[in-house]
Amino acid sequence: MIRMFEARLKVYSSATTDFLRDYMESRNDIPQQLRSSMLYSLMAGGKRLRPALCMASCEMLGKERVNALPFAAALEMIHTYSLIHDDLPAMDNDDFRRGKPSNHKAFGEAMAILAGDALLNTAFELASFNCKTVDDIKAMQYLAKAAGASGMIAGQVMDIDAENEVYPSPDPSESLVMIHEKKTGELLTVGIMCGAIIAGADEQTLTALKRFGLKFGLLFQITDDILDAVGDFKSLGKTIGKDNATSKLTYVSLYGVDEARERASAIAEDAKRTLGELPYDTSFFSGLMDFTLSRTW
Ligand code: IPE
Ligand code: IPE
Ligand code: MG
Ligand code: MG
Ligand code: MG
Repeated sequence: MIRMFEARLKVYSSATTDFLRDYMESRNDIPQQLRSSMLYSLMAGGKRLRPALCMASCEMLGKERVNALPFAAALEMIHTYSLIHDDLPAMDNDDFRRGKPSNHKAFGEAMAILAGDALLNTAFELASFNCKTVDDIKAMQYLAKAAGASGMIAGQVMDIDAENEVYPSPDPSESLVMIHEKKTGELLTVGIMCGAIIAGADEQTLTALKRFGLKFGLLFQITDDILDAVGDFKSLGKTIGKDNATSKLTYVSLYGVDEARERASAIAEDAKRTLGELPYDTSFFSGLMDFTLSRTW
């Protein structure tokens, strides 16, 4: 299952990278320094998981992945902007990302902030100019909301607040789920949903995909928390031990590595059960669960 998943991930990943490179090359209206800074982070590698999810769900519902490709690339731009801003000294203050110095280390803070802003807006230029159907517009609305002030950004706010012991809930475990579902779950979930929307999914399918996506998002961030504690800089491409150093509320800080792992396995099983509700070939997504549980990058 993992091998099949990895083979398909590679296909989606290179389609995304090629599309992003061609698109950015065509944008010679962007000032050169800004374009270099955007390209630096976009082309630094990364798993391309969000665009892969988007194309995979489009294909799962019977439509060719090319229909979801511009949208998937826009989603990767938004994700990349979120990473550039997440690494800034005012936020997580991380010096490395995707195996290279973080954007602000390479281009300075001002250009990193602006490259993030530019990636966010460019994503919506790209997605909106490629809207051909009412479903495409619906997908864009979902994307705007998931990335926005009540979605991923809300999660980042809660994550930063938690460093100062301000929590969204009096119950720490509930706070963690809320933070993780928002800061990470929203963008992953919307990738899955948007591919399906572009392929004309009905409401029942979207509801099931959303339930699955949020479980997967939580799982993915738990494994990110674990890798921050016990991972390896070379494979991950980012500094290890930062969560502990900055007193983040994470699955590792609350439960320890072993229990975090157990919880991750239980959530993966639960997410797989959710996939059972879908009358489609969900093997890519069950492979995704296995990949996530054993990932090292
Ligand atoms: C990192 O995301 C940030 C989180 C939401 C945990 P990824 O682990 O998907 O990062 P890349 O895209 O592969 O670099
Ligand atoms: C990131 O969470 C969530 C984002 C929206 C970028 P983290 O802060 O844990 O991600 P890493 O570990 O820096 O990739
Ligand atoms: Mg962060
Ligand atoms: Mg971070
Ligand atoms: Mg992390």
